[in-house]
Amino acid sequence: MARCRLCGSEAEHYLPYARLWICSRCFVERFFPNRIRRTVEAYKMLEGSEKVAVAVSGGKDSAALLHSLKEAFPTLRLIAIHLNLGIQGYSEEAQRSVEELCRSLNVELEVYDLKAEEGFTIGDFKATRYGRKLCAVCGVVKRRRLAKIAGRLGVDALATGHNLDDTVESLLAAFTGGDFQQLVRLKPVLPAQPPFPKKIKPFHRTPEREALLYAEILGLPFNRRRCPHVSGSRSLRGKSLLDLWEAEEPGFKYRLLAAFERLIPLLEPSVAQPEYTYCRVCGLPSSQPLCADCKRIEALKRVLNRGQN
Ligand code: AMP
Ligand code: FES
Ligand code: ZN
Repeated sequence: MARCRLCGSEAEHYLPYARLWICSRCFVERFFPNRIRRTVEAYKMLEGSEKVAVAVSGGKDSAALLHSLKEAFPTLRLIAIHLNLGIQGYSEEAQRSVEELCRSLNVELEVYDLKAEEGFTIGDFKATRYGRKLCAVCGVVKRRRLAKIAGRLGVDALATGHNLDDTVESLLAAFTGGDFQQLVRLKPVLPAQPPFPKKIKPFHRTPEREALLYAEILGLPFNRRRCPHVSGSRSLRGKSLLDLWEAEEPGFKYRLLAAFERLIPLLEPSVAQPEYTYCRVCGLPSSQPLCADCKRIEALKRVLNRGQN
């Protein structure tokens, strides 16, 4: 029988990259929240922050994020934001899970229903030129609305559940695609851009598998269904390949992250970041005269209007 390295009782879990046997209790009470605390401190994520919004999708990562932030920083004022994207057979259950989670943690929740607020759902983009990559449009739509709502709520920071696997996959994709502008933007803290608050990723060093383990051990309510639009996406393929590499060489994802973190400061001075201006339609900060969000909404409106004529 393997023993937990932290308390000596029977260990249920093995973390190959750390060669660590650990019991469920030490994992959720010590190991997991300690890593968040260290990550938050290392990148000064919460410096000067009292009120923080957490983007909660209904999935395992953001459920684990909300719970562990509350554990690790008990004096922080947290408010959850959930976007209901109107995806059939997925969004209803996602919202239910978020509501249950927030109720059980006694965290205030702000729900934004895309269809009710703006009259469209993510699926409606299928008919536009962005329809072949719904996840990408969805990313733009989500980012903009989360930032807007967080700005309206007057929080000091907006936290998302992006984990180590998400980040390493995105870094590698930006690198192999030669998109160095995107590469240097994949930092765990992005400064405030009024009216948007700063963005933080407290799970920057948390492997996806461990966010799942944390949520499962604690029995947190989360939606196990995968968004129907995600299947076959580039990021899923990339993550499976990284899993294969990690299985052969434990610690590979951390080594990749560390290498990129050394590379980014070297690249930064030579990669021109776009100048920020304001979108001519919505008036919010944008690198283009028409922001990515308004561009997609305009394309959608054109298609919907055509359908009505
Ligand atoms: P994804 O882009 O789906 O990988 O999600 C990354 C992070 O964005 C999640 O961990 C959440 O913090 C946030 N997020 C994604 N979808 C939603 C949603 N529907 N409502 C609120 N936050 C979300
Ligand atoms: Fe956005 Fe699936 S959650 S496309
Ligand atoms: Zn705009």
